[in-house]
Amino acid sequence: MCGIVGYTGPGNSVHSIIEGLSRLEYRGYDSAGICLKIDNELQILKKEGKLENLKKLINEQKPFSHTGIGHTRWATHGAVTTDNAHPHGNELFAVVHNGIIENAGALKKELLAEGFLFKSQTDSEVFLVLLTKFFKQSNNVLQSISKAFSTITGNSAFVIIEKASDKLYCIKRSAPLVVGDNKETREAFVSSDPFALIGFAPCIYFPQDSVICVSSVSDAEVSVNFYELDLKPSTRYKLQSNAMTMDTTTKGSYEHFMLKEIHEQASLIDHLAAYYIKNEGRKILDELKNLKTAGWHLTACGTAWHAGLVIKNYFEQINRQPASVDIASEFRYKNPILNKDEIGLFISQSGETADTLACQELCKERGIPAFSIVNVEGSTLFRNSDKNFLIHAGVEIGVASTKAFTLQVLTGFLMSRSIQATLDDSNLFTEIQLLSARIAELCSDTKLIKEIAQKIYNKKGFIFTGRGKYFPIALEGALKLKEIAYVHAEGYAAGELKHGPIALIDEHIVNIAIVGPELLEKTVSNIEEVKARRGRMVVVGPQNSPEIEQLSDHYIPLNFEGLPNLSPIYVNVALQFLAYHIAKLKGTDIDKPRNLAKSVTVE
Ligand code: F6R
Repeated sequence: MCGIVGYTGPGNSVHSIIEGLSRLEYRGYDSAGICLKIDNELQILKKEGKLENLKKLINEQKPFSHTGIGHTRWATHGAVTTDNAHPHGNELFAVVHNGIIENAGALKKELLAEGFLFKSQTDSEVFLVLLTKFFKQSNNVLQSISKAFSTITGNSAFVIIEKASDKLYCIKRSAPLVVGDNKETREAFVSSDPFALIGFAPCIYFPQDSVICVSSVSDAEVSVNFYELDLKPSTRYKLQSNAMTMDTTTKGSYEHFMLKEIHEQASLIDHLAAYYIKNEGRKILDELKNLKTAGWHLTACGTAWHAGLVIKNYFEQINRQPASVDIASEFRYKNPILNKDEIGLFISQSGETADTLACQELCKERGIPAFSIVNVEGSTLFRNSDKNFLIHAGVEIGVASTKAFTLQVLTGFLMSRSIQATLDDSNLFTEIQLLSARIAELCSDTKLIKEIAQKIYNKKGFIFTGRGKYFPIALEGALKLKEIAYVHAEGYAAGELKHGPIALIDEHIVNIAIVGPELLEKTVSNIEEVKARRGRMVVVGPQNSPEIEQLSDHYIPLNFEGLPNLSPIYVNVALQFLAYHIAKLKGTDIDKPRNLAKSVTVE
């Protein structure tokens, strides 16, 4: 969701804020804005559309300021317009916001009745107006922040600057927010993501919910202070060094981050296997040995939910332990049956997805242990978990998740294997090595997939099918295609096609069928059914299978040999390439598809 950056210090805040926003733009790109304290005034520059538009404005005006805040927006309340872009400011304060103020409608009515005016349709401005109202009553900034924050409901993070000082104030509830400082350069920073602060702030503070953080800089030092809502000093924060590195922030020689991230997968698989089997990660997996549970409750959203569907198969087939997988936004409202001898497993790349976090909270309230498969160390999900299984994917910048899926599934597989047997089994290591080698091979020659993309990209609709362990991959293949190529795509269990969706099939529709060596004959009959209705058939199937190849219009041969458990990951990489090349032909914005944002921190 929205990206937030704040700066105060001796340098020009514009540089760090714009650099930070550029790194966070993948989180929201409907509009962008910056507020700078210049000559004791708060000056706001904002623009509808991508950050590029704001950068142009800044290049024309070349502002200089020691204190400022910036924002890239993913619209929730209010259309995508320059007026609704953040920051929102008045004669006293300026505010940037990530999240949703749930009672904004009612509060706005009251404030309008009291004579306050609004310049935008956003819920965020309600916080600004409340803050101003309370400040006019008390003349005390901290007290006003506390009162305004206590008045609003919903999950949000705010960064505030004022005309009267160079302080940066911030506060959050169930939304990501970090504060950073650099003692040597006497600079302080705030952001919705430590990623924005790489190279700027060696130390990062993670405040807990409802803690007001105040950063200030003097000639002698930089200080960060924390307060409870009753304004007593707070110790509810964690201090951590920022271990992330910069090489993750560039595309290198790749045209898109998505393409770079697809290509990274083979070596990330090797690293993850080494980490969990041979290095530090081994300890945490060994703790799972002989773990007994009455059942697993997996919850996640989107691509992470698809990873959960693959992992469920591992728990059921390898461990014979019951596992349910729910979409997080469904699970949290369905009053789930949770028993104390069960385990909640939450899967998330960002570790900040609001619905997944709510499920974790629910499980914890009901007294069942919370485990996570997560990428971002230090994220909210990570901090609130009883056990974390990190996927070590590095920063994923492409909004469409690729490498995170691969490593989530692999981590789930390793968890399942370590419950059942020792990780020293050489077959296990061999299968993982084979997987990375096959993916590397696939990456080295994508000519065929590109040619197929060229032949089908203009078709009206795409139906992905797969059976058993490939059914989640059909769902994931369809999701990837629709989100980056803006075409209609659906994933179905292959055997389900004839129960309805087959009505859609004609010469304008493409069926992308995943055919593993398992249940091959059954899937072949499904292909025949589609062919009989003139559907265009793309098959991803075992190499050296002339019978299926003949049936298909286009065939992507894969070597399934030696991958009894991990072939879904392998097949998925082929579909990632197919989606990528179709999107390229369609000319869409592959790394920042319309209407989307990385890390969905609103419900
Ligand atoms: C799709 C995609 C999303 C995310 C979902 C969950 O490509 O990226 O569907 O998988 O929003 O995000 P995380 O994993 O951060 O919880």
